[in-house]
Amino acid sequence: MLTDPPHSTFIGYRAGTLCVEDVPLPQIAASFGTPCYVYSRAQLTQAFHAFSRPFGTRPHLLCYAAKANSNLAILDLFARLGSGFDIVSGGELERVLAAGGDARKVVFSGVGKRVDEIELALDKGILCFNVESASELERISSIAARRKIDAAISLRVNPDVDPKTHPYISTGLRNNKFGVAFEDAFALYRRAHGLPGLRITGIDYHIGSQITEIPPFLDALDKLLGLVARLETEGIGLHHLDLGGGLGIRYADETPPEPGRYVEALLARLGDRRETIILEPGRALVGNAGVLLTRVEYLKPGPARNFAIVDAAMNDLMRPALYDAYHAIVPVQPGARETRHWEIVGPVCESGDFLGHGRDLALSEGDLLAVMSAGAYGMSMSSNYNTRARAAEAVVDGDAVHLVRARERVGDLFAGERRLPFPPQR
Ligand code: LLP
Repeated sequence: MLTDPPHSTFIGYRAGTLCVEDVPLPQIAASFGTPCYVYSRAQLTQAFHAFSRPFGTRPHLLCYAAKANSNLAILDLFARLGSGFDIVSGGELERVLAAGGDARKVVFSGVGKRVDEIELALDKGILCFNVESASELERISSIAARRKIDAAISLRVNPDVDPKTHPYISTGLRNNKFGVAFEDAFALYRRAHGLPGLRITGIDYHIGSQITEIPPFLDALDKLLGLVARLETEGIGLHHLDLGGGLGIRYADETPPEPGRYVEALLARLGDRRETIILEPGRALVGNAGVLLTRVEYLKPGPARNFAIVDAAMNDLMRPALYDAYHAIVPVQPGARETRHWEIVGPVCESGDFLGHGRDLALSEGDLLAVMSAGAYGMSMSSNYNTRARAAEAVVDGDAVHLVRARERVGDLFAGERRLPFPPQR
């Protein structure tokens, strides 16, 4: 029986040791070292079903937002469950295909699609471009027309609703760079209708991330449906409605709706419309399926603050430094020792390099800690700052552990670099 912390059904304590499914985390640290991201296959699978089940037989497609965690193992797992993908670069498309994903289930979002990325997506036959500006629309039209094909497009509209989340991850307000302004969308659809090389298939929005209540999603949907009705009067019918991602998860004491309740609320508002419904969840599929396993290197108690220096840093998990995000940090093997107030920090040379502030923990040097809810935007946002090789990644499946990404080797980090000729050659 797994008990607390309550972030995930499949991650919890058994006989005093934190386990992912049936595997105690010290076993993973011994096999692969730290820092290491560890994911639960059962949790990933359960999360996917939680989104897909409420759709029943209604036509729908879940397009997992690959940016949340783009490890090939995870993309492959979702692809096998029937998932499509929301991508934002040619690189993500290559990853999805390398993982066995189906290009015909890929939607391509993002404000800055390059010519080569558009060409790659057309070559591979993606489902749809989520177009974010008039200039992009013209670009896709001219590339496709030159090739004498039609590119499937939807406009990403910016419904100007407040998702009430961190400003850096709000995307559906009129002052954000994303999407086409709501008041311009109708005219741009008419323009698209007249351009060569385009086939209008849908409409799309994505209003932000880590949204923990349903009303902003419904406000956006209401606006979207109003626009869809106007388009119908123009003879512009749509095949799909893409309602984006953004459902939040529990990091601390948030109480986001369960995915099932969120989907049901959307479906209730959609009534008996016939379009295929696309969702682009990222965080809610992977966030609480993963932890970042790290080891305490040094304890440095001091007069002002007590620092616990761990071997994971802001380059491994950027969210605390970038958004002041909270991640629970728990001992892998809690003891009966005395607790103290600790700053959990990494070895990187920045004062912003912290994983958690003021955590009450009983710590000894060498202890293992788990940074919870690290499955989304953890590894995928990691960097090599301070020439730190990026962490390993493992997936637990029952009592089996699969290393799905080897720890990076330092030599690989500068393998592409060259010294200047000496003496200078001019
Ligand atoms: N669709 C589009 C077009 C997106 O831009 C995103 C995320 C998603 C779907 C998935 O959103 P989700 O379901 O994961 O909320 N790095 C930040 C989050 C940035 C989200 C960017 N876009 C973080 O760590 O909180």
